Amino acid sequence: MPTRNKTPKVHPDLESVMFTEAQIKKRVRELGHELRSVFGQGEFTIVSIINGAVMFTADLMREIDNPVRLDCIRISSYGDKTKSLGTPQIVSSLTIDIAGRHVLLIDDILDTGKTITLVSGLITKLRPASLRTCVFLDKEGRREVPFVADFVGFKIPDKFVVGYGLDFAERYRNLPCIGVLNPQLQNAPGPA
Ligand code: IMP
Ligand code: MG
Repeated sequence: MPTRNKTPKVHPDLESVMFTEAQIKKRVRELGHELRSVFGQGEFTIVSIINGAVMFTADLMREIDNPVRLDCIRISSYGDKTKSLGTPQIVSSLTIDIAGRHVLLIDDILDTGKTITLVSGLITKLRPASLRTCVFLDKEGRREVPFVADFVGFKIPDKFVVGYGLDFAERYRNLPCIGVLNPQLQNAPGPA
């Protein structure tokens, strides 16, 4: 049977690969252990900020065997730009009750800190038993609102990255690696 090359090794639109699929997998597994050391065997509720955190949330959930509940919250995105525009807005809110629950808020990347600050504030108002935050990537140097996540996959420099859920104009989310988007493409209009 002919073997089909599912994914090219390096996507042509990437300037470089920052984390390979194997490196991501290894780090997600480690984060699962870190979660277990904090939550023990107890139940908690995951709140995932979509769309970006979809892949990370799905993988991380499968690294833990705690009983978990899942809800998603949709926050307005960058549009087609690579820099955050103004204040993020809640587009679609939570549907399950989190009062009195231990909550783990998950996002793909912590950048200016505005998104996670907004969502943390909203969750806190709903009176959870506790709130912890987990991001896969942390661009510490770009913070405009001070915020320290409880669990961080990797700290990264100020580069616009795509893949593993992260997008540019809704594309590249399905790349299994995380890479730096070719800067020339960041300014170009997308394909029709
Ligand atoms: P913040 O509100 O500035 O912290 O931005 C967080 C959101 O911006 C994340 O949930 C991502 O959706 C998006 N974001 C920030 N940096 C990047 C990046 O390098 N690539 C793709 N999306 C990013
Ligand atoms: Mg996002």
